[in-house]
Amino acid sequence: MSCRPTRNAAFADEAHDGDGTGAYPVLRQSFVLASDYIEERSPTGLPRSVNPKLCNVSASVVMGTLPRRDHFATFDTNLFVSGQVTCFFRRLRTGMGQTRTVIIDELRVPIVLAPMAGGPSTPELTVAVTEAGGFGILAAGYLSATEVAARIAATRAATDAAFGVNLFVPGPATPPARFADYLAEIGADHELGASRYDTDDWEAELDLLTESPVAVVTCTFGCPTRAEIARLHAVGSEVWVTVTSVAEALIAVDAGADVLIAQGAEAGGHRATFTDRVTDDAVDPLGLLALLQLLDAAVDLPIVATGGITTGAGIAAALAAGSAAVQLGTVFLRCPEAGTNPVHRAAVGTSEPTMLTRAFTGRRARGVRNRFMVEHSANAPVAYPEIHYATAPLRARARAAGNRDDANLWAGQTQALTPELPAGDLVRTLAADTKTALDKALSRRIQSC
Ligand SMILES: Cc1cc2nc3c(=O)[nH]c(=O)nc-3n(C[C@H](O)[C@H](O)[C@H](O)COP(=O)(O)O)c2cc1C
Repeated sequence: MSCRPTRNAAFADEAHDGDGTGAYPVLRQSFVLASDYIEERSPTGLPRSVNPKLCNVSASVVMGTLPRRDHFATFDTNLFVSGQVTCFFRRLRTGMGQTRTVIIDELRVPIVLAPMAGGPSTPELTVAVTEAGGFGILAAGYLSATEVAARIAATRAATDAAFGVNLFVPGPATPPARFADYLAEIGADHELGASRYDTDDWEAELDLLTESPVAVVTCTFGCPTRAEIARLHAVGSEVWVTVTSVAEALIAVDAGADVLIAQGAEAGGHRATFTDRVTDDAVDPLGLLALLQLLDAAVDLPIVATGGITTGAGIAAALAAGSAAVQLGTVFLRCPEAGTNPVHRAAVGTSEPTMLTRAFTGRRARGVRNRFMVEHSANAPVAYPEIHYATAPLRARARAAGNRDDANLWAGQTQALTPELPAGDLVRTLAADTKTALDKALSRRIQSC
């Protein structure tokens, strides 16, 4: 029997005992706790806000029988959108009273603004998404701790609501010999900057976030250590770790993450992989739907789905596949509140395909196809952030000259659908479209066999 890791050691042990109860072994211990919880909340034995369709699940828990997996698919769409069902099921799956509610369970709209380093992410965009009922995350990537502090202050000045900050977890330096040939190749046509290594101010930013905590700290490119996560927990922050595979998810669970951000290969911007390896290119990166199903079978942490979602139907699909919320990046790139530069802004909402490349930064990222990517992706090595710094001046020149061919145009696979709307209106439209899509899906007849 497989173990579904939880943050609670007693439960993990319970899940190992091989009692043959099927897909939800951890539920066995939670029956008593579950019925106590339900009785506490309502004389009818059901949590107050739960739709009658949930009676099957609640009743089977009270009676000590296992809810079947298909019970989890019958829910009221409004409840789903409000996050209450997600929260309720998580309690069932991990044991009553043994997990705490995370911030996404309280959102009016289960939409998280992706951090978008390099310009698009602004305090104004974060505030607009948050005020519309979603959850805003500020990007700290490429910024010093002092610059991040200024952005946190600007966000706090504009809203009392909770928001998050995203950090890049530093990887190892790459020996210059490994990227010298590539620099010679691109240097033949372009004036380059100095390649260098740094940690993106990791230590100073952790210090900042422990001295001046935010509700959520999210991470990409790796997993913080247990001690680092414990430091953030000690000041009351949730820690969300971005993962692209089950193996990375298990590392994040073990380190103490509160939430996993599941990033599918459709996603715009850098892949969040803990280690970027050329040898892994032979294996197809997991698409979001595949990743969500694999994670649902392997871990019990709440999941935020990200990658290629730009419509209510896309959000509905991710929620139905088990995520508690979605994290959207590209769809916000054309909002007036975003700091997206004009060349990048003009490149999204077009029919041009996207592709994965290391050509600009030495780390795999998805952007709208252009000449630089086509000409240099084949030889681009893994060397982040060294290549990022080397190409920074050429990308800046391209932006200043309105030249789309040499600029990094990060965007996800559904960039063609990116609308041009104020962020608050966009969140409200997406929420309404999600409800419509969920209703439509539920209205489709499923023949019982
Ligand atoms: C322009 C851009 C910049 C991004 N920068 C970051 C970042 O700083 N940190 C991060 O964790 N993810 C970053 N991402 C990835 C997003 O978190 C998210 O996974 C992605 O946007 C989801 O796919 P979508 O763009 O199709 O919505 C970026 C994405 C884009 C498009």
